Amino acid sequence: MTAMIVNQRPVRFQMDPATPLLWALRDAANLTGTKYGCGVGDCGACMVLVDGEALRSCLVTIGEAEGRSIVTIEGLSRDRSHPVQQALVAEQAIQCGFCTPGIAMAAAGLLAKNPAPGEGEIRQAIPNLCRCGVYPRLVRAIQRAGRVGARRERISAAPAPGISAEDAAAAVPALRSAGNDEEER
Ligand code: FES
Ligand code: FES
Repeated sequence: MTAMIVNQRPVRFQMDPATPLLWALRDAANLTGTKYGCGVGDCGACMVLVDGEALRSCLVTIGEAEGRSIVTIEGLSRDRSHPVQQALVAEQAIQCGFCTPGIAMAAAGLLAKNPAPGEGEIRQAIPNLCRCGVYPRLVRAIQRAGRVGARRERISAAPAPGISAEDAAAAVPALRSAGNDEEER
C-alpha cells in the first residue's frame, strides 16, 4: 500500500511501488486529465506538481511519491479559475488541448516561484512539446497569468464548471455547432 496526498485528499494505492505515478493517477484514481504522451520523459504531457515542483509523472514511481503531495490538473482549481487556466483560454493558447494539462501544471509550478518570468525563463521551465505549435501564445499566456496572479490584471475566460453544453457553446464561439448557430439566427 503506497500512501500520498492527491489533490488534497489522502490516497492509498494497492499497486506495485514501481508503478509509474502516471498509471496510478490515470488508471487507479481515474484522474485522466494527466496525459500519456511518450512515457519516457520527453513530451511533458504527464506533468503534475509533486510538493510544488512540476515533474513528469511517467518518470516518478508511486514508491518515490510516497508521503508527498501531488496536484493534477483536476486539482489546480475547482472551477477552472487558476490564472494559468484563465490565461491559456484568453490568449487562445490551446489547439487540440492534449499537451495543455501538462503545460498548465508546469506553468503553475513556474509562477509559484517566479510570478513575472521572462520569455527565456518560460522556455527553460516549460520544455513541454506541443505538436500544434502554440509556443508564441504560450509565452504571452504565462506572462499574463503571472500578472493576474499578482492582481495586476483580471480576466475571466473559461466557462464555469457544470455549465450545460448549450450555454458553453453560447459563451465560447468555437464550441458552437451548426445547430446552435441556426438557433441564434
Ligand atoms: S508521457 Fe511523461 S514525458 Fe511524455
Ligand atoms: S495544443 Fe495540441 S499538442 Fe499542444
